[in-house]
Amino acid sequence: MRAVFVFFVCIAQYRLRRFAAGMHMHPQRRERWLWFRCKQEREQTKMGVTRFSGIRACVFDAYGTLFDYASAAARCRDVLGDRLDRLNALWRDKQLQYTWLRTLQGRHADFWQVTGEALDFVLETLEIRDAALRDRLMNLYLTLDAFPEVPAVLEHVKKAGLKTAILSNGSPAMLQAAIKHAGIEHLLDEVLSVEDVGVYKPHPKVYQLAVDRLGLAPQQIVFQSSNAWDAYAASAFGMRVVWCNRYGQRPERLPGKPDCEIRSLTELPALIGA
Ligand code: LAC
Repeated sequence: MRAVFVFFVCIAQYRLRRFAAGMHMHPQRRERWLWFRCKQEREQTKMGVTRFSGIRACVFDAYGTLFDYASAAARCRDVLGDRLDRLNALWRDKQLQYTWLRTLQGRHADFWQVTGEALDFVLETLEIRDAALRDRLMNLYLTLDAFPEVPAVLEHVKKAGLKTAILSNGSPAMLQAAIKHAGIEHLLDEVLSVEDVGVYKPHPKVYQLAVDRLGLAPQQIVFQSSNAWDAYAASAFGMRVVWCNRYGQRPERLPGKPDCEIRSLTELPALIGA
């Protein structure tokens, strides 16, 4: 008798969970329903209630969000002196410009090549002729510092039962090197590189890669990026977005709107109930 009772309770719990997740609906209806739930949460966010619900994964941009791209040049301060900030800003700008230009031209080259070519441009601009420094900077790009809060935040996210992933322009080898250096391999379920789609962010194919690999709807993914343009593009694609505005950037005038803006990932666990 007791076994029958437990059996029916289990069935009821299973059905309730499926109902709460909208699994009883036709996929198209479920899509609309998820979108509506998201919209309600976006409205709550505007009112100051910023906790997300219904999410299944946290996906992170890599460079600038998990890893400090300025840390490579910072370790060459001895040689660069007061040219350090200029080199960092120009290197990052040129690197991103090359990703966008190559995507527009349909002439993809991986992020390692693009990063090296951007550095060559910058060294010439700053009239630095130093092959050893070039090699040193490129090698340091493989062992960038993770921002200090990153391991603890990833641990919180995983403990909350959410999947964790990186979605980045970085080539697989670059990403693996940085992840290993930071000692966070065990805290990531997926490491997704644009190399699998052959175009750079913000092409929608990149965000679709996360949807396909994680097997989730865009609305079930919260994407974190410190790059405003990346955050806006993921939002326009349909993901929930936390813009980790580490660099105090101004809002973009582009499609999309991040759901939340934070200054460091330390604020993320509270937003997702982790
Ligand atoms: C990345 C760059 C955009 O990791 O930061 O994809």
